[in-house]
Amino acid sequence: MASQKITRVGVIGAGQMGAGIAEVCARASVDVLVYESTRELAAAGRARIMRSLDRGVSSGKLTEREREQAAWRLRFTSDIGDFADRQLVVEAVVEDEAVKTAIFAELDKVVTDPTAVLASNTSSIPIMKLGMATQNAARVVGMHFFNPVPVLPLVELVTTLMTSPEVSERAESFARDVLGKQVVRSADRSGFVVNALLVPYLLSAVRMVESGFATVEDIDKAMVLGCAHPMGPLRLTDLVGLDTVKAIADKMYEEFKEPLYSPPPLLLRMVEAGRIGKKAGHGFYQYE
Ligand code: CAA
Ligand code: NAD
Repeated sequence: MASQKITRVGVIGAGQMGAGIAEVCARASVDVLVYESTRELAAAGRARIMRSLDRGVSSGKLTEREREQAAWRLRFTSDIGDFADRQLVVEAVVEDEAVKTAIFAELDKVVTDPTAVLASNTSSIPIMKLGMATQNAARVVGMHFFNPVPVLPLVELVTTLMTSPEVSERAESFARDVLGKQVVRSADRSGFVVNALLVPYLLSAVRMVESGFATVEDIDKAMVLGCAHPMGPLRLTDLVGLDTVKAIADKMYEEFKEPLYSPPPLLLRMVEAGRIGKKAGHGFYQYE
């Protein structure tokens, strides 16, 4: 069956990343259905997207009319059964393999179009594991967006030994031609290209704090002023979420058994304390 242009997208999860992915799709004139498990989470997800759209208006990137049109294209549901007609679904829930595999197994039953693309925004879980949770691994691919999604232009496209060339081409052309993102391809290895390089750097910064090498503020200042990074590694760890950084590091360590991916004790203690970064109001820094 010839695949049609993608105009109906589903996003599973409306946390930082799911909300950003849903927003960029709605801004690109795509009909977007977003799943959250409860009404409260759905309302929080919609509010997150509206705040970001408002920010787009106040910075002059969007008109008020474009904001309203994007908002109209977004619907929320707590029933994955509603995803039957979707041509592309991007899963963006918590970085937990058991949660993601259960969602892929369910999506596989629900999404009827055999040419539909089932994508994961995972940072570190091999896409093959998600593909093998379905009956049709040929339509499963990694589409890895970057935080904040409306700002960062990259999508890493991850194909597995089972992904069909048609599905990877469809996902790539959607990211490039519809969303206006730039695409790089990565082998299906935990962390893909960016996190394989970024996560050891973030963990090294945490180890520096842990050993008293330098303060949080000075480590960040050093990388902003000395290397022209937009933010230092500890503020970036706060932005990503310490829970997510830990989950990514655990997966990469599981794959490569390299000490550089092993999460340091300070990171573990902060996650246990609930100091998981900007989204919780407290991480290496305090937020209002
Ligand atoms: N949504 C929409 N727009 C946003 C935004 C958001 N959440 N955050 C910032 N922006 C926009 C602002 O509106 C602003 O736009 P204008 O210039 O048109 O006004 C622009 O981005 C810059 O924002 P600010 O001036 O408020 O702040 P800033 O200059 O300090 O930039 C930042 C903020 C964009 C987050 C920047 O610091 C940055 O790029 N940091 C690095 C982020 C990064 O490395 N992300 C990758 C994380 S790793 C990952 O994503 C993969 C993984 O698997 C973990
Ligand atoms: P988040 O904590 O902001 O949001 C997590 C989402 O998962 C929420 O929608 C939440 O309702 C949902 N969720 C939590 N537990 C669940 C469960 N048991 N069942 C179903 N849904 C559940 O996380 P995030 O930063 O948006 O990360 C989401 C995904 O995106 C992860 O796979 C992460 O690795 C990846 N990612 C994160 C970043 C980042 O910088 N934070 C960047 C790229 C990719």
